[in-house]
Amino acid sequence: MRVSRRTFLAGSASATAAAGLAAACSHVEADGPVSSSAPEHKDLATAVVGFDGLRQAGVATATQAHLNLAAFNLKEGVEKPGILRLLRLWTEDARKLCTGSAPVGSLEPEMNAWPANLTITAGIGERVFDLAAPDAKPQWLHDLPAFSRDRLDPAWGQSDLVLQICSDDPLTCAWALRHMTRAGMDYVRPSWVQQGFMNASGSLAEGTTPRNLFGQVDGTVNPRTDEAYEEQVWIDGPGGFAGSTSLVVRRIAMDLDEWEVLDRRSREVVVGRSLADGAPLTGGGEFAPADMEAVDDFGLPVIDKNSHMARAMPPEDHPEQRFRRRPYNYNLPPEPGSGKLSNAGLIFIAYQKDPDRQFTPVQARLDEVDRLNTWITHIGSAVYWVPPGASPSGDAFWGQSVMG
Ligand code: HEM
Repeated sequence: MRVSRRTFLAGSASATAAAGLAAACSHVEADGPVSSSAPEHKDLATAVVGFDGLRQAGVATATQAHLNLAAFNLKEGVEKPGILRLLRLWTEDARKLCTGSAPVGSLEPEMNAWPANLTITAGIGERVFDLAAPDAKPQWLHDLPAFSRDRLDPAWGQSDLVLQICSDDPLTCAWALRHMTRAGMDYVRPSWVQQGFMNASGSLAEGTTPRNLFGQVDGTVNPRTDEAYEEQVWIDGPGGFAGSTSLVVRRIAMDLDEWEVLDRRSREVVVGRSLADGAPLTGGGEFAPADMEAVDDFGLPVIDKNSHMARAMPPEDHPEQRFRRRPYNYNLPPEPGSGKLSNAGLIFIAYQKDPDRQFTPVQARLDEVDRLNTWITHIGSAVYWVPPGASPSGDAFWGQSVMG
């Protein structure tokens, strides 16, 4: 019989060797800062994003350099009591890891010493509601509709639970994934892991919007104020749902080989923005409003009506079609023998109140027409409820407000 290390070591002093670091670390609130661009380049040895709060960190938090997005499925026979034990245990361990102290049972407490802005954000899939709180399941918590251009690989499909683990240090990210996987092993088995990256911490000036592998400034149009987050992202009720949100994950392959063939101007027309600074092709700088009516000397629209930007922006009568995009690049070696130079893409992560009203209509429009479609293919899809944040003085663990 396997002895659970957690049970075996509970209370052991060795497990808290790194405790105390948290107190010395710089602090940012769990649900802030509100930003989608490069974080302030703090001393990473002491950089901590606060864990506790009404909302989970890792949603509005400025994008860290590394992502491990890990999906898990419940083991056979695990039902509501097991689910609640897992969520409590994961919450406690995530709090420790994110604040730079060693979770109970950690045999390598040294590894927890530099969280480097680590955030661990939990998402709960539809099947967990079916087992633990069927009457409370949000209406929007279901598979996205099939889109005509989807080429979904079930290997990147829906899971029961997901952990979005982000840090500015890749070793911390790997360690946090290893710890959380081991901590949950009595209840869940890993389903997939999606690893992604953005610019290394400090390589972009603070506040700069990062770029994707097509070289585009990606993340310009995003909520940037508390009001915008209230409007687009945070669910306000009922009851235990306050402070929660939803997470849509799409794995999107990007054909870099074919993109190479395009000249620079065409690349800009595809998106409707300049490569130099991400400004709309009607000018004015990255954050200037796009003039969708402007025409050139030939009477043609300056921003192509089928460009990615024109198709993605909310129509006037549906201003609610906006959300927080928090994408990460992936860039794997090409399949041996494929003759391709790349196996790359975007781990497209979107947070919103209600995917049915926000993400899905936008994706339906893009699926119909979007110049970018020639170079991208959606190959994975999943949807989760992201419970409110936890704290020792409030909900003690993720999901307690609704399932506990
Ligand atoms: C590999 C796939 C994709 C790439 C490379 C990409 C790239 C971009 C770029 C460069 C921009 C312009 C700058 C900005 O506002 O961030 C943009 C804007 C946007 N994208 Fe994407 N995108 C992809 C997929 C998607 C998907 C799947 C959705 C949602 C269904 C989406 C929704 C949006 C929205 C809402 C905007 C802002 C439009 C506006 O109001 O101006 N994108 N994207």
